[in-house]
Amino acid sequence: MDWQNVVVTGASRGVGEVLVRRLAAQGKKVFAFARSEDKLRALEKQSGGAIVALPLDVRSPSQIAAAYERIEREFGPIDVLVNNAGVFQTHDFWTQDLEVIDRIIDINLKGAL
Ligand SMILES: NC(=O)c1ccc[n+]([C@@H]2O[C@H](COP(=O)([O-])OP(=O)(O)OC[C@H]3O[C@@H](n4cnc5c(N)ncnc54)[C@H](OP(=O)(O)O)[C@@H]3O)[C@@H](O)[C@H]2O)c1
Repeated sequence: MDWQNVVVTGASRGVGEVLVRRLAAQGKKVFAFARSEDKLRALEKQSGGAIVALPLDVRSPSQIAAAYERIEREFGPIDVLVNNAGVFQTHDFWTQDLEVIDRIIDINLKGAL
């Protein structure tokens, strides 16, 4: 498969950060989504243009729509989406309150959809 433009959500650290670095090193154009703008900007700077920082919250449909619109306008269609952004709690589930459960569903489920 011939693919070039890759979106990686949750790109500011952990698995997502490693993935964007590796994809950029392989010559892909990588669009890095996360809330931590400073970390994304540092990745963008280090990559020499292979990584494009797009700070956003995956819970915001308008921010996601604006990012996709910019990517398609400036770089063309997206070939691959890696829905990596997510949070998890280490508490026992019976100690979690509804606010925490809502946050997990908003980010991990609705954010991916
Ligand atoms: N590591 C594990 O053992 C493990 C096990 C099972 C599943 N997972 C899942 O695998 C994925 C990667 O794991 P990881 O260990 O690399 O996680 P991590 O280090 O906690 O990184 C999570 C990433 O998601 C981003 N993120 C969180 N909430 C966001 C939001 N509302 N909008 C945009 N970005 C958001 C964070 O960036 P910002 O904070 O900058 O927004 C960060 O870049 C996660 O979905 C995690 O739940 C991990």
